[in-house]
Amino acid sequence: MAEKKKGKLKKLVMMGGVGFLALVALGFGGLYMTAHSQLNKEVTAPDGDLALLDGDKSAIKRGEYLVSSVMGCGHSECHRADFGGGPVMDKQPVGRVYAPNLTAGDGSVTKGYTGKDWARILRHGVKKNGKRALIMPSEDYTSFSDEDLAAAIAYIKSMPPVNRESLPHALGPIGLLIAATEPVFAFDKIDHSHKPAEVKRGPTKEWGQVMAGTCKGCHGDGYSGGKIPGGDPSWPAARNISPDEASGIGKWKFEDFEKALRTGQRPDGTTLHDAMPWKMYKGMEDEDVKALWEYLRTMPAKPAGGR
Ligand code: HEC
Repeated sequence: MAEKKKGKLKKLVMMGGVGFLALVALGFGGLYMTAHSQLNKEVTAPDGDLALLDGDKSAIKRGEYLVSSVMGCGHSECHRADFGGGPVMDKQPVGRVYAPNLTAGDGSVTKGYTGKDWARILRHGVKKNGKRALIMPSEDYTSFSDEDLAAAIAYIKSMPPVNRESLPHALGPIGLLIAATEPVFAFDKIDHSHKPAEVKRGPTKEWGQVMAGTCKGCHGDGYSGGKIPGGDPSWPAARNISPDEASGIGKWKFEDFEKALRTGQRPDGTTLHDAMPWKMYKGMEDEDVKALWEYLRTMPAKPAGGR
């Protein structure tokens, strides 16, 4: 009798185990399908065009500044210093996220891009094949003028061609979970009817608003920080840079802000994590740092993490 009971119990436990595994498999299957339909979804980007400034010396110079110290296309582990691309991330369980080759060499994805193709990816976050770009922070660049975007493109195109294959993304379980559930497609975050305002450059809050577009992807639309969508899971949350006195930079002076951007040092003497690209911002022009400060002071104070 006791043996029979034990046998039944064993059977039940086994059935439970099989059921649990089936659920895990189903869950993973669902996740896999959702992530893949997200990655392969085709969208229509509104028509747009950029008047390219290829070969224009002053545009290339302006572009070099924007790309190297403001926009950060080659920063971190993205398109790389030679713009030949590489994995933004390549470790399980996130998997491989790949930033493609932007030079004119073999393996380039942008060779032959027209002004329309550039407008589609930079203003709307849509690739030439009609799919939404993953991780590429196009929403950060929508406030810049056509001239500034064309300058950035002219600079990138002035770089020597690099022959390097652009690999597809190959997401692992956590990468799939992120692609299925987090706002990692700029296309979904962009107001596609937005036309950048015509703003004169200078140490003003108006110009600061344009510059601050590049902080939003990480610090959020309200600049109060929080977990960075699609960021490396090992990164800390982006901090609150709204003027909140308790958790933001409300008590900071301009000098503190400038120091943080140029040296990565917070007023309490600690150093900011490399996820905050201060090594790139240290080359930012004085007027641009001032403009950012002026603009951020005008934002409503928000508690940390509300993004
Ligand atoms: C790629 C993501 C990313 C971008 C882009 C980014 N930041 Fe950050 N930032 C962070 C992270 C993450 C931290 C927190 C680092 C830490 O806690 O060590 C941070 C911290 C800061 C801090 C320190 C705040 C404090 O209380 O210590 C300031 C100031 C700052 N960022 C300003 C900016 C400005 C201005 C921009 C745009 C020009 C910007 N950041 C763009 C990720 C980013």
